[in-house]
Amino acid sequence: MSRLAIRADLLDFTADPGWSAPSDVSPGLRWRPDHWLLVDGGRIAGAQPEAPDTSWLRHDHRGRLLMPGFIDTHVHMPQLEVIASYGTELLHWLETYTFPAELRYADPAVCAAGSSRFLDALLMHGTTAAVVFPTVHKASVDALFAAADERGMRLVAGKCLMDRNAPPGLTDTVDSAERDSTALIERWHGRGRLAYAHTVRFAPTSTDAQLALAGRLLAAHPGTYLQTHVAENRDELAWVAELFPDARSYLDVYARHGLIGARSVLAHGVWFDADDRALLGRAGAQIAHCPSSNLFLGSGLADWRALEDAGAAVSLASDVGGGTSLSMLRTMADAYKVQALRGVRLPAWKALHAATRGAAVALGLDREIGSLDVGCMADLALWQYAVGPVATARDEAASSLHERVFALMTLGDERNLVSTFVAGRCLYGA
Ligand code: GUN
Ligand code: ZN
Repeated sequence: MSRLAIRADLLDFTADPGWSAPSDVSPGLRWRPDHWLLVDGGRIAGAQPEAPDTSWLRHDHRGRLLMPGFIDTHVHMPQLEVIASYGTELLHWLETYTFPAELRYADPAVCAAGSSRFLDALLMHGTTAAVVFPTVHKASVDALFAAADERGMRLVAGKCLMDRNAPPGLTDTVDSAERDSTALIERWHGRGRLAYAHTVRFAPTSTDAQLALAGRLLAAHPGTYLQTHVAENRDELAWVAELFPDARSYLDVYARHGLIGARSVLAHGVWFDADDRALLGRAGAQIAHCPSSNLFLGSGLADWRALEDAGAAVSLASDVGGGTSLSMLRTMADAYKVQALRGVRLPAWKALHAATRGAAVALGLDREIGSLDVGCMADLALWQYAVGPVATARDEAASSLHERVFALMTLGDERNLVSTFVAGRCLYGA
């Protein structure tokens, strides 16, 4: 049956709720307790307090919370194997753990198994859309897109570009990168719910010639994205300054090649100055804030508010395997702590918006994902407010909606997830 109705508390956003003291009537917050969400042909068809007629397949989840599926704007498919690796900062972590793990993806069988496992893991954490790094290998992109297409998921990804400062089995060349990228764009970009992202790993692993290629590809293929890492770690910053002595800043290395625009998703952005932030704002680029990774690798505390004040969009990302969980709830809890260390309090509404509608708007995909708007795809996650005695005690003591949802964001994780729907199909849970 293509007509489905789910009864639950519906929570989503119609606009950015901002940073002001959260209340249960914050602007942009759309709260519809005990409603039926109607899904027809994979899209959201409406919401109403009364039960629809029996022509709808009805799921009664009274007392649970239904939200749009989360959007993870920066995560690495081949890094589930290196999550929770001990003892190093970024550059050493890449060399010691990450590059060796990614070398295994030269094997298409590893790519296929890794992609399926990765996407199923996202769904098990309530994430229905993502901006993803595969590896340098063309087969890893084919496998990831094929697995996303099978599941009907919205996915943005592309072949990792790296033509220096990496082990031999993990490098390409300008020519092979151009050939592989062009073939992959033709095969996958715009197919189903898939979009191509030119994927510069980070400035140290690309020559100027390869960065120029990425700029040409981005300009030549409208609708494609650009993803990379920027200004994550201080040793990385010093290395970039050595490799690109003429650039004003790390961000400028990318800007000079036309890589910073409205379709650019830049992970981290911890170590920026005011000029960098102004450039991002003018370009309409997006920072994927990765608080869990920044804490785990000891990278630093990104200044979310300063980025936004300069006009840049900020979304939230797990950055697994630098990050320690695929759970966007845990990511939000870490974001709260990172901002607290900067002296700023992150409302649950702001965090949830950044992981849903905010990310969708920044990606130009808000007519498709990120909210419970009529016409959007029914990419949904159904949650229990509390699991276990501690969270249950906290939930019962909550005296406002924000208190309740903030406790979910702080204490919750994938154990709270009841089911995940992609385009109205239940792909996890029941
Ligand atoms: N910078 C370059 N590559 C990576 C990566 O795989 N993870 C993180 N966190 N930073 C990077
Ligand atoms: Zn990353």
